[in-house]
Amino acid sequence: MTPIYQTSTFVQEAPAQHKGYEYARSQNPTRTALEAAFAAIENGKYGLAFSSGVAATDAVIKLLQPGDEVIAAADMYGGTYRLFTKIFSRFGIVFHYVNMQDANNIRQYITNKTKLIWTETPTNPLMNITDIAALSAIAKEHKLLLCVDNTFATPYLQNPLDLGADIVMHSVTKYLGGHSDVIQGCLMMNDAQLREQLYFIQKSCGAVPGPMDCFLVLRGIKTLHVRMQRHCENGEKIARFLRNHPKVEKVYWCGFEDHPNFDIAKKQMRGFGGMMSFTLKNDSVEEAKRVLSSTELFALAESLGGVESLINHPASMTHASIPREERTKNGLTDSLIRLSVGIEDADDLIEDLNRAIG
Ligand SMILES: Cc1ncc(COP(=O)(O)O)c(C=O)c1O
Repeated sequence: MTPIYQTSTFVQEAPAQHKGYEYARSQNPTRTALEAAFAAIENGKYGLAFSSGVAATDAVIKLLQPGDEVIAAADMYGGTYRLFTKIFSRFGIVFHYVNMQDANNIRQYITNKTKLIWTETPTNPLMNITDIAALSAIAKEHKLLLCVDNTFATPYLQNPLDLGADIVMHSVTKYLGGHSDVIQGCLMMNDAQLREQLYFIQKSCGAVPGPMDCFLVLRGIKTLHVRMQRHCENGEKIARFLRNHPKVEKVYWCGFEDHPNFDIAKKQMRGFGGMMSFTLKNDSVEEAKRVLSSTELFALAESLGGVESLINHPASMTHASIPREERTKNGLTDSLIRLSVGIEDADDLIEDLNRAIG
């Protein structure tokens, strides 16, 4: 097993003559092993590990200059939106938020200042799907970078680099770690120059993970395929159970054949995962909060992608940083409930939800 190099600095042979490792903000052997694993699972040449998913996103935006423009998905993780609107817009970077369910929607926002397209698919929490190959074709036509947040799908279900993306980003905290015990992020890419630029940002800005966390993620990745298989099986059972429940109004899960982008999901994904959201026929926030507080196996918590099932209220938890007006415009209502379906016994999970919904 890869040792945990609990080491911040490395003895050098002579001044400026080191043996591959000098100082652990720049390189650490445990992190090197993990970065190679990151590259391998996304069919990429290079991987870089960061201290969180948002730190990985932060590094991508730091490729840009003031005045540059980004076309970003209108519906995505609230923390990404907060980083773009509250931090980087203060440094002169301009973001356009666009509904990317039709990739062509981005065309009208492309100017000579546009440098980057940022997308997330499936989206958190509405499970909307973007056609990565179609976005990549537009990006190449206009010489733009395309970065895909692949957190929800994981490399087991979808490989954006194979579909033409330039950078893949993950909140490793979620499925790659898989056990709700690590905060971490990563980037994968094929272009050597892009890797050099992002590595320079990684070591200059310093948002790197420690060796223990790298070790835990190396271990987590070993069971990714087995966990994902079960997340997909349980996800399908629970999505279908919810859809047939008389008190449930709508279920957002990208594996339903009548999902608006099912054809694209089927084309670019190898399965549909364990993430979903739903609303109740009784559309009051109070009723949603009652259900959220009534489950026993589904723990009420932020985050997702661990082996244990979680239930979450996006409007007041993971997506509270998006103004209500913006959220509801994209369909994220105050009564929406999000599930991260874990790998427990599916019947137990169904029983738990059935009891909570009543
Ligand atoms: C889709 C998505 N992207 C990015 C992030 C941010 O990752 P982290 O919390 O590891 O910083 C999250 C976290 O919830 C997420 O769900």
